[in-house]
Amino acid sequence: MRCQKTQLFVLFIALVNIFLFNTTISAQTSVNKTEIINGTDLTDTQGNIINAHGGGFLKVGKYYYWIGENRRKGVFVSCYRSTDLINWEFRGDLLTRQSHKELDKANIERPKVIYNERTRQFVMWMHYEYGPDYSYARAAIATSSDIEKPFSYLRSFRPFNNMSRDCNLYKDEDGIAYFYSSARENYDMIIYKLSDDYLDTKEQIATLWPGGHREAPALVKRGNYYFLLTSGCTGWAPNQAKYAYSKSIKGPWSELKLIGNSTTFDSQSTYILPVEGDKTTSYLYVGDRWDGKQYFNSKYIFLPLTFQSDSTMELRWVEKIRLSVKTGEIN
Ligand code: GAL
Repeated sequence: MRCQKTQLFVLFIALVNIFLFNTTISAQTSVNKTEIINGTDLTDTQGNIINAHGGGFLKVGKYYYWIGENRRKGVFVSCYRSTDLINWEFRGDLLTRQSHKELDKANIERPKVIYNERTRQFVMWMHYEYGPDYSYARAAIATSSDIEKPFSYLRSFRPFNNMSRDCNLYKDEDGIAYFYSSARENYDMIIYKLSDDYLDTKEQIATLWPGGHREAPALVKRGNYYFLLTSGCTGWAPNQAKYAYSKSIKGPWSELKLIGNSTTFDSQSTYILPVEGDKTTSYLYVGDRWDGKQYFNSKYIFLPLTFQSDSTMELRWVEKIRLSVKTGEIN
């Protein structure tokens, strides 16, 4: 009897060891990833699923920050950081239901953050809704002096009284920043110049493709051209992205050109991330593969955006992304 007990105890200890050992191995594996596998659950360095949908990226010192929608347990916006764009460390929640009374029944989508050198504030713009539908159609702003610390929610509003849904920010090389969003029930895409402190829209500078029904906008500048990538409007279901280019952010913008395949590889755009290295600058398309019914099952898609000429952009499918932030090369 005693012998059986001892054997059981030894077995128990062995199982605990196997469990702990495996856990250690998987935790180690998660900090040493070398690639992003598209369409799978991405985990952070602690092995938890990354919640940063409709997100954007920002480089601060040696870190890339990835900030996006969380939507778990009253959390709206979460923050991750990485030195290699592959291994992401969770740094905290930046905006929650408790951050402000205007957020108690809010729905926050597509948060983006840029840094204002003059005010030394990180400024977040996002799509704000109140209640279950999308009728508020407002932009909202929050700020923080530390990108990893909770942001202070300031207000929500309609820029120049326009409806404002899917949105994004772009900070140009000269420090002037722009907010752009789907307006007029998503019929139009409007670009606004921001005030110097980035806390307001100063001027409505372009109203693009009236009636064109574009959303999920992502803007980048390469060489002499700005590129604006957008999706069509089919809710959580994917459709084919289109892009346009222009030498000035005010326009004139080119007509819309098809890119990728008929579903943008089952994803919707959220950001174009330049990877600036010492050899080259590459561009990553970042999209969400939405699961509108079970939001937390949504996945991320990172794909190389390549350029055949100064104004021609191509998006192709790859299973995996490997990249070097040092050289800027993606393969
Ligand atoms: C998408 C939009 C998402 C979300 C969704 C709701 O078109 O890009 O951010 O708003 O509709 O149906």
